[in-house]
Amino acid sequence: MKRLILPLTLLFGIAGLLAVGLALGDHDDDDDDGGRSKSSPAAALADPGYALYTNECGGCHLAYPPALLPAASWEAMMGGLSDHFGDNAELDADTAATIRDFLARNAAAPGAGKHAERTWRATRGLEPPLRITATDYFRGKHHEIPAKMISDNPEVRSFSQCAACHQGAERGDFDDDRVRIPGYGRWDD
Ligand code: HEC
Ligand code: HEC
Repeated sequence: MKRLILPLTLLFGIAGLLAVGLALGDHDDDDDDGGRSKSSPAAALADPGYALYTNECGGCHLAYPPALLPAASWEAMMGGLSDHFGDNAELDADTAATIRDFLARNAAAPGAGKHAERTWRATRGLEPPLRITATDYFRGKHHEIPAKMISDNPEVRSFSQCAACHQGAERGDFDDDRVRIPGYGRWDD
């Protein structure tokens, strides 16, 4: 009987650690994985396709995080670059194909990290949105911010200007603790 005590203690110890791990994983609204989880906004930065993506898609605006739209959205966008929100953003076929693959690899998907998973859930079964700012996940995170801080704010003007408020946007850092709204400062919710 005595020989069982050590293994049992170990077993309960491990079960306890697992429970803590699960609990931490659950309250993910405030967790901060530093963007390390797979397909988090920051994960795409480690992808070999990222440099080409920022060169080609980061000239007119932030190279938006692929994790915040599902693959079907990126596919639709890449199929219509000659009329991209009123601009011509056409690319040669090889470049477009490489970027399309990069976006598909890093798109919103189940089990792919907090932001990616929630975006995937919010867009599942819908006509693929062409804007990150049109997803219910994005809207749910931003609906409390009043218009005076956005459209009436000359330093922001629209939600599409992610980097105006998310100072770490270029690094894939969208943590709400590090938001600074120009003219208003830190966001405390
Ligand atoms: C010639 C300039 C230009 C280039 C190059 C360009 N875009 Fe855009 N993009 C725009 C404009 C303009 C908008 C609309 C912005 C707005 O409404 O404020 C936009 C919007 C977007 C949005 C929606 C943002 C939102 O509001 O949620 C996404 C996503 C996007 N672009 C992805 C891409 C991708 C991917 C590429 C590369 C294949 C790319 N863009 C290249 C000009 C460009
Ligand atoms: C006007 C300032 C502003 C702009 C512009 C903005 N955001 Fe935000 N964002 C916020 C604030 C404030 C929060 C925190 C909201 C809260 O938790 O109550 C937030 C939260 C988020 C979150 C959730 C972070 C988390 O882990 O809970 C994501 C993801 C995000 N923003 C992405 C974006 C992207 C992508 C863009 C551009 C398409 C963008 N935001 C544009 C202010 C902004």
